[in-house]
Order: sequence, then structure tokens, then C-alpha cells
Amino acid sequence: MAANTDGSQWRALATLDDVPAGKMSSHEVGDINIALYNIDGTIFATDNVCTHAYALLTDGWLDNNIIECPLHGGQFDVCTGKAVCSPAEADLRTYQVRVVEGRIEVLVPDAGS
Ligand code: FES
Repeated sequence: MAANTDGSQWRALATLDDVPAGKMSSHEVGDINIALYNIDGTIFATDNVCTHAYALLTDGWLDNNIIECPLHGGQFDVCTGKAVCSPAEADLRTYQVRVVEGRIEVLVPDAGS
């Protein structure tokens, strides 16, 4: 797959069947761990590692568009990446998503893989 001029690439990480509505999934892409979330049929992608300390958000709890970190209970809006509840203060990185023929593709930076 051809890289964009900035080194980013669309990567197919899952299929729509893999991430039903209200569910999430974890995907390692090079050095990055990306979380996919299905919010009422729309797929969103963020970094999967909490910005407060080290925990995978997909080990936490998804309630509508809010993910709660399993370690200290910080919360983020998965649609925007915004930190909405302490102790999380820094926002999550978000990624562009597109669905092509049932495949969920995410625009990821050059992850060295
Ligand atoms: S590691 Fe997520 S809130 Fe502390």
C-alpha cells in the first residue's frame, strides 16, 4: 500500500463484524496501540494507551461515547479524544477512519513497520 507524502498510510485493522455497536477492539500497528470503537454504527479510533499512566483503555469500560480507564478511572470522549474526567488531563490522539467494503481502515503515521 502506498504511503502518503507524510509517511502516513491507511491500514485495514479489522472488519465491521469484528467491532459490533457498543464494542471496542485493540490493534498493534508498529509501536502504536490503537483502539477502535463502534458508537451507534460509526467507528472511531484513538490511541489505546491512557494519557495518565500506562493502561489499555480497551481493558476498561465503554459507556456510549465515553471510555473509562481501568486503572484510575480517568475518562475520555472517544469521538474527540478529549479527557473528560480526572485524573486524565491530556487528550487522547485520534485517528481518521474510513470503511471500505466492510474493512475498517485507519490513517496511521509511519509506525516503523
Ligand atoms: S492510567 Fe488511566 S487514569 Fe490513570
